Amino acid sequence: VSDPYVSIQLERRHPLPLYQQLYLQLKDAILSGKLQNGQKLDPIRRLAARLGVNTVTVVQAFRCLEREGLVYAQVGRGTFVASPGLNSVRTNTRVAADSTREIKHDRLDSLQVPIAAESINFATLTPAADLFPVDDFRIILNQVLDRDRGQAFGYQESQGYYPLRCSVASYLAREGIDCHAESIQVISGAQQGIDIIARSLLQRGDYVVTESPTYTGALASFHTQGARILAVPLQADGINLETLYLQAIKQRPKLMYVMTNFQNPTGSCYSIEKQQALLELCRKLDMYLIEDDSFTELSYDGRERRVIKEWDQDDRVIYIKSFSKILMPGLRLAFLLAPQKLLPQLMTAKHTADISTSGLLQRAFDLYLRQGLWKTHLAYMKKRYRGRYQNMLEAMRLSFPAGVDFQAPQGGLCIWVQGQPGLSANRLYEACLADKVVIAPGSLFYPDNHDSNQFRLSFAALTEADISNGIPVIARHLNMFNSPNSDPRHQYSPLL
Ligand SMILES: Cc1ncc(COP(=O)(O)O)c(C=O)c1O
Repeated sequence: VSDPYVSIQLERRHPLPLYQQLYLQLKDAILSGKLQNGQKLDPIRRLAARLGVNTVTVVQAFRCLEREGLVYAQVGRGTFVASPGLNSVRTNTRVAADSTREIKHDRLDSLQVPIAAESINFATLTPAADLFPVDDFRIILNQVLDRDRGQAFGYQESQGYYPLRCSVASYLAREGIDCHAESIQVISGAQQGIDIIARSLLQRGDYVVTESPTYTGALASFHTQGARILAVPLQADGINLETLYLQAIKQRPKLMYVMTNFQNPTGSCYSIEKQQALLELCRKLDMYLIEDDSFTELSYDGRERRVIKEWDQDDRVIYIKSFSKILMPGLRLAFLLAPQKLLPQLMTAKHTADISTSGLLQRAFDLYLRQGLWKTHLAYMKKRYRGRYQNMLEAMRLSFPAGVDFQAPQGGLCIWVQGQPGLSANRLYEACLADKVVIAPGSLFYPDNHDSNQFRLSFAALTEADISNGIPVIARHLNMFNSPNSDPRHQYSPLL
């Protein structure tokens, strides 16, 4: 039997206290089956001696596990693993795990985190599965199978199923983007789009401009290529153009990555003036611009938002459209609208990555668009998300203490919060996690992972009840950080 403790590593200079590190690693061991149901944990003194920590550290870690029902203590016998009741729930973003492992900058390794099944997850941007249009999709899939039989399971043309590219081109044309099927590359999710662009265009040491803060998955792809990030602060109406110009003129970046509407994580939108000015600047600096559009349709104030691709006269914008957040992320289906000059190399990179996106699902999505089901579903999702958005804002306004600041983004899936000055969002994350509430600390969205008073709350996967139960928990911890004895470690008294 392998030693379940051998991989435990505790770092004294880690921003998480030792007991939290130990708790999370033991939890990992339980959820991954390294520590099995019913197995007795090493006695406290022995484990403490072995790991070179105080017994109190082990007691506190065990206590966190006990609160989550992952272990139970028997007087005089010891502590035992009790894994039932927990699932390894995939969270969209890099969430929790990032903040425990950020020290190692191990982003790719931390795209998912085990959380207790009954946790309230304000960290994920993934819609709850009960919103997925499963019944409509079943009918559509059967129609595809009846129509195309075995064809649906063959290798698909790497650029994508042609009728689908035509449907998407007309959808985008209705949205104001001038395009045709020949310039669309079907991709297996926006993340793949960012990744193949990074692989095709970047070399080790190249500079890439991103907004600051930005989407973690994009940072991971740029880092993987060995690129250096120029993180330029966001303002209320988009990136700070002066700072961008001053930095870019020195470093000559090849590429820039932005989210024009309802940015992840801040929710901010570019004004039309700034969209156009940014494009002009990209022209001047001879820089390609990746425009990642996952959220434009999710506007809750009735205003239609525009995208930069609409103004792109000289084919400089690589536009990525994903429907993951509105339809079903597991379809792994998105679209990349590429400048003519770049299309061949992007097509090669896509082919190298996975040959093609599932032909069956492309055919199904094509019918879904053609039969108008997409429009109906979009309207349904907007209604549901708008309700959650309003509940969340209301709950936050009611519960959050003075000094905590946030804007109403009027769309998208998240709200960006500035805690009171001096707050550590990493510590707030830990404190909430112990109460089974998961938030996304701001450190996840900066290339250097610095801790700050900022955090992101998403309502994508939450019911009204989750929101009204979860927000007061976060508020309570925010209040505790206001008090003089604000270190969350002081909430736990040792059992010994
Ligand atoms: C801004 C942004 N881009 C891309 C993605 C990845 O989306 P997809 O599921 O289409 O790969 C996400 C997921 O959260 C995102 O927030």
